[in-house]
Amino acid sequence: MTKYNFPEGFLWGAATSAYQVEGAAEEDGKKKSQQDLINERSPFTDASVASDHYHRYKEDVAIMKELGMTSYRFSIAWTRIFPDGVGEPNLKGIEFYHNLIDELIKNGITPIPTLYHYDMPMALVEKYDGWINRQSVEDFSKYAEFVIKEYADKVKYWTTINEQSIILQYWTAKNYIPEKYLNNPQIKYQINHHMNLAHAIACKYVHEYVLGGQVGAALGYAPIYALTSNPEDQMAAQNANDLRNLFFTDIYLKGEYNKAAMTYLEKNQLAPTMEDGDMDIIKEGYSDFLAINYYYSDCAKAPAKEAVRTEPGVNLTGKKGEKSTYEIQPGFYEMVRNPNLDTTDWDWTIDPTGLEFALRDLNARYGKPLMITENGMGAFDKLEEDNSIHDPYRIEYIKSHLKAMARAIDYGVELISYNPWSFIDILSTSNGYNKRYGFVYVDRTDDDLKDLKRYKKDSFYWYQEVIKTNGNSL
Ligand code: BG6
Repeated sequence: MTKYNFPEGFLWGAATSAYQVEGAAEEDGKKKSQQDLINERSPFTDASVASDHYHRYKEDVAIMKELGMTSYRFSIAWTRIFPDGVGEPNLKGIEFYHNLIDELIKNGITPIPTLYHYDMPMALVEKYDGWINRQSVEDFSKYAEFVIKEYADKVKYWTTINEQSIILQYWTAKNYIPEKYLNNPQIKYQINHHMNLAHAIACKYVHEYVLGGQVGAALGYAPIYALTSNPEDQMAAQNANDLRNLFFTDIYLKGEYNKAAMTYLEKNQLAPTMEDGDMDIIKEGYSDFLAINYYYSDCAKAPAKEAVRTEPGVNLTGKKGEKSTYEIQPGFYEMVRNPNLDTTDWDWTIDPTGLEFALRDLNARYGKPLMITENGMGAFDKLEEDNSIHDPYRIEYIKSHLKAMARAIDYGVELISYNPWSFIDILSTSNGYNKRYGFVYVDRTDDDLKDLKRYKKDSFYWYQEVIKTNGNSL
């Protein structure tokens, strides 16, 4: 009798993204993406070397094999395939992903590529402001079609766009936004509409070109609790869920905009401009599954009458309590700190029950298979003198979330795979190499590249056992 009922053939993996691990940002024909520029301007290190995965992918896949991974979620850099976003494909870039995918398959690891992880080609930003311009839909579609066709006989599971929700919430950090647009919040909903079209078209290509192919978005997803049982707070939590979650999932899984969210945007002159036929494109590009990136849950209350529109803040230091600004949508909701939950050093709530809640809720709403493409804990890890890394906090975090997943499975959720963040340490978007997520330590800091050697953390050996027992060592 097993303790936990993870299905036979459940995919146990881990995740990364291109600009956060590959490095070689301008090598073999690749050109810069907006992420290279955004990171160059950040107080942390840039993405030029990252974890040097581009040069060490074979060594890295060997470590994945040792860990026992049966899936690997990574992203394809648009700028490696089309350095200028459009035009002639770059053979060296195409070859790199063939090599990586072949190496994975040879080692029994199912590749789960993501087509877009924040890295719009800088050439297209310079040409027409990137996602702000509708031309981006056509150019992304050409890139997606090319890539999907190229790897069609090797890749079954595809994810399209990483975290549209976060791209929208943190629109000036996840997009390179020219100054003239910075005071125009409607722009973020326009970017999002273009991404909805791009996502749907990519889904269509997977259905067209990949025999038995399955596709979905990888959405940053945080369930939202009401701060109190006061009906006004409950209503605010529902409003926040409509605009921060269902605004995306209704597009992906029902092919329509969430009505309450859209009504709020229209009333506030924030709704995107659409063209005739857009909703048909969105409907045709149906998803086979939904992938979520789950790190934390959120909390909302009714906003004060005089509350003004406020962008969410972010903790960039790892000093608890630093995050002081929470999103306000006047007349709709105000996000707040949840007094019931502990947080990481970066003020992200730790809430395994929130994952169970999210999976159950999404299953009840849409009844589609689900996948987890990110989940994990950013922390200050320490490399000891004997090259060990003791990360019991990460083990505890992942263990409790796996148990929550097992409960959701018991209650009828169909889960395809679990790909925690991250396989090796990555360049964190909110604290460079100070904030680490990996099962494998990469020996470098923001200021010193050192030798970039890989060392296995305690969580590596722990997760190895979990995988070996199909979750029953938990
Ligand atoms: C997700 C992103 O939002 O969270 C990743 O898809 C990111 O790219 C991860 O690294 C963790 O966020 P952060 O800010 O801690 O790096």
